[in-house]
Amino acid sequence: MKEFTFYSGIEDLDSESKYLVHKAKDSTSHSYAPYSRFCVGAALILEDGTLVTGSNQENASYPLCMCAERVALYVAASQFPGQRIMKLAIAAHKKNHKELAQATCCGACRQVMVEFEQRQKKPFEVIMLGAEGKWIKSASAALLIPFGFSMEA
Ligand code: THU
Repeated sequence: MKEFTFYSGIEDLDSESKYLVHKAKDSTSHSYAPYSRFCVGAALILEDGTLVTGSNQENASYPLCMCAERVALYVAASQFPGQRIMKLAIAAHKKNHKELAQATCCGACRQVMVEFEQRQKKPFEVIMLGAEGKWIKSASAALLIPFGFSMEA
């Protein structure tokens, strides 16, 4: 299986990935980002086809800001426990800008995603917009953070 696949436009993605990117983009309308003015949305699909979305939620106490990916992942774990995550997409844009901005998941979210994979004992795909307008599909979250922290022996 290919670890990373690169696409020059959304239209080149498979239909499920395209759907998730659109849902992630829609979710940016619920971002609360008055400080960074960077609106991020995440959308993931569960094994039974359920869609879960999240958006970044900021706070005047900056370290309390929460990324869109983690909002979506924690909602999935809380509301649909035991359901495998199949794929997660993120999309972002600057406030009041239409076009999507480069937004690859931050290190904290990658660390969290890896533990979700460990919990479900199966990888999930991650779709995000990288440099030069190229969409990236990673076959697994673990590929995004080599040597991530783990307490497992
Ligand atoms: N952000 C995310 O939601 N996901 C990421 O992977 C990176 C950053 C948010 C956090 C903050 O609200 C804003 O983007 C600027 O860092």
